[in-house]
Amino acid sequence: MRTLDFPIPDPAAQQASEQLAQRIAQRIREAGGWIGFDAFMQAALYEPGLGYYSGGAVKFGAAGDFVTAPEISPLFGACLASQCAQWFEQVPARIFEFGAGSGALAADLLGELARLGHAGVEYRIVELSGELRDRQRRTLHERSPALASRVQWLDRWPDEIEGVVLANELLDAMPARAFRLRSGQVFERGVGLDEAEVQTSAPAPGDGHASRGAASAALSSGPRFAWRERLADASFEATVRARLAGPITAAGEAWPDDYESELAEQAQAWVVEAGRRLRRGAMLLIDYGFPARELYHPQRRMGTLMCHYRHLAHGDPFVLPGLQDLTVHVDFSSIAQAGADAGLDLLGFTSQAALLFGLGLIERLQQIPLEPAADHLRRTQGVKRLISEAEMGELFKAIAFGRGISGDAIGFLRSDRSAGL
Ligand SMILES: C[S@@+](CC[C@H](N)C(=O)[O-])C[C@H]1O[C@@H](n2cnc3c(N)ncnc32)[C@H](O)[C@@H]1O
Repeated sequence: MRTLDFPIPDPAAQQASEQLAQRIAQRIREAGGWIGFDAFMQAALYEPGLGYYSGGAVKFGAAGDFVTAPEISPLFGACLASQCAQWFEQVPARIFEFGAGSGALAADLLGELARLGHAGVEYRIVELSGELRDRQRRTLHERSPALASRVQWLDRWPDEIEGVVLANELLDAMPARAFRLRSGQVFERGVGLDEAEVQTSAPAPGDGHASRGAASAALSSGPRFAWRERLADASFEATVRARLAGPITAAGEAWPDDYESELAEQAQAWVVEAGRRLRRGAMLLIDYGFPARELYHPQRRMGTLMCHYRHLAHGDPFVLPGLQDLTVHVDFSSIAQAGADAGLDLLGFTSQAALLFGLGLIERLQQIPLEPAADHLRRTQGVKRLISEAEMGELFKAIAFGRGISGDAIGFLRSDRSAGL
């Protein structure tokens, strides 16, 4: 049995994780032994008080499980401020940030917008997690005490949005369904209970993830979960086949066999919902992912589900439910389609590096003081992570939509890959 080398959580965290595992296990039993992966992911991330985002996990930064662009460099938010400032020439100076994490992006944006002459901007945050709301408040009071009063937290979606909608790494955190193609058939991959003993933990028939099951078994004394597949219902099968048909034809390959991936319908639905409420304004979404042609390329056989626990990236979603982050890459073609379904104009699609260059990253970088040298090095290295092709620069993409916005968005002037969606 191969076990992942996981740092062991403290007893309180472990107890919370076991409580969540019991709750999910109960749901699986009540549902007759199987729940969809989207239901598992929903509970693991958002179960009130116990899910990864709704519970007490540190999440972001060095002491957490992963870092996001606003945590890496304040120049990320400063660059986005330039894009917002351009849009504010046509729409009310109001930002709606969805999933604001630690609040770092809000603090950086407010600071830079004030510098650019938009000190009066209204900032609204829609955040599912109560724990993160508190953290956002603290960050804003510490980093931008003079501007913190501009921020309001909304308990529900605004009925109408006029202004700019922003979300960084929101869509990848939305629950997705998982599937496998095998022998010409489409199976939905869901979650069942692994009733075997810890030492004899075995994968489900046809499941290639023995090491993943073993890893989760080794860490938990509570219920253990395992992948279980069943034939997809007609509607899910049709959606999967339709989503994959284009990429497979484009690659000139046969329909793949033993191929797994995910379908993030909730991310699409979110864009439709946000788009319908956007009366006048723009929406900028940044996340990691690809156009469908690349995401569902026949050679990407293992899907994109990723789990993060204390900066260890791995593929076992069943380890320590509620204590690790689960994500799937974003299918930007389906996101573009969702925007079109909501009647929005596509304003651009490009890599994070190209977006930041277009929004004045180099000019801002040149303003970082050379002394103290250690600070200069740290700050420039953070920027390098944002733009390096080997790190976030190419994997992360930005997509923008608008309603009632004329002219080109400056972030997409240098490079616009919309034609590849
Ligand atoms: C991966 S984190 C990214 C946080 C932050 N944007 C950053 O870049 O550091 C995902 C965030 O989205 C929030 N979230 C997930 N689904 C949401 C939804 N439907 N509405 C609002 N926030 C949501 C989570 O609570 C969390 O704050």
